[in-house]
Amino acid sequence: MAHARIEIAPSILAANFSKLGDEVRAVEQGAADVIHVDVMDGRFVPNISIGIPVVVSLRNATRLPLDVHLMIERPERYVEEFVRAGANRVLVHEEATPHLDRALAMIRESGAEAGAAINPATPVSMLTEVLDKLDTVLVMSVNPGFGGQKFIPGALEKIRQLNQWRVRYNGAFRIEVDGGVEAENVAELAQAGANTFVAGTSIFHTPDPAAAARRLRKLALEAVSQKV
Ligand code: DX5
Ligand code: ZN
Repeated sequence: MAHARIEIAPSILAANFSKLGDEVRAVEQGAADVIHVDVMDGRFVPNISIGIPVVVSLRNATRLPLDVHLMIERPERYVEEFVRAGANRVLVHEEATPHLDRALAMIRESGAEAGAAINPATPVSMLTEVLDKLDTVLVMSVNPGFGGQKFIPGALEKIRQLNQWRVRYNGAFRIEVDGGVEAENVAELAQAGANTFVAGTSIFHTPDPAAAARRLRKLALEAVSQKV
């Protein structure tokens, strides 16, 4: 089945920024598939994180794809710059622009994979008209802005619904989940149809981030193979 693949995407928001290169290499050893980079502007979300120079540095520090989650107003203003900086995947919020279709087209035209993210209060139906422009749908399972928050269970139903759409549309997009992902819920999320698991706290706030990433992957894979 298309997109049955499981990906672990450590979120560097929870890493120690004074040794970011080491942190990224550690999770690379832990068989991370993608590095998730949270960009926040203090407007779309009530927090400010990192931007283009950090993406450039990360690009030089790892071969893994960079999954750049733009929690910024009017993300289309910066899409090209982030791709030039080294983003392989760019995710924009449906709530952050009146021109989602244009923003997604810009991402692909710039040479990256395009994703749309939806907040907990946004129904998946907001994406019906752009499904053909999406490589990824990102279901937020916390209100974006901060790491270490509690998983909001409503995300599971959204993932199930997207999974059904995907069957209808021949598996054309990946389902990513972000926020409060940990060993306790990763199996259920994988069974619901999620492919890409973003995890910050449950990977970097442990004594052995590589082992934590490996464990999440194992639990997700087991859950999917048990289901078949
Ligand atoms: C939240 C960010 C997440 C965050 C997840 O706004 O989009 O990527 O880093 O952190 P955890 O895994 O700690 O919930
Ligand atoms: Zn994120």
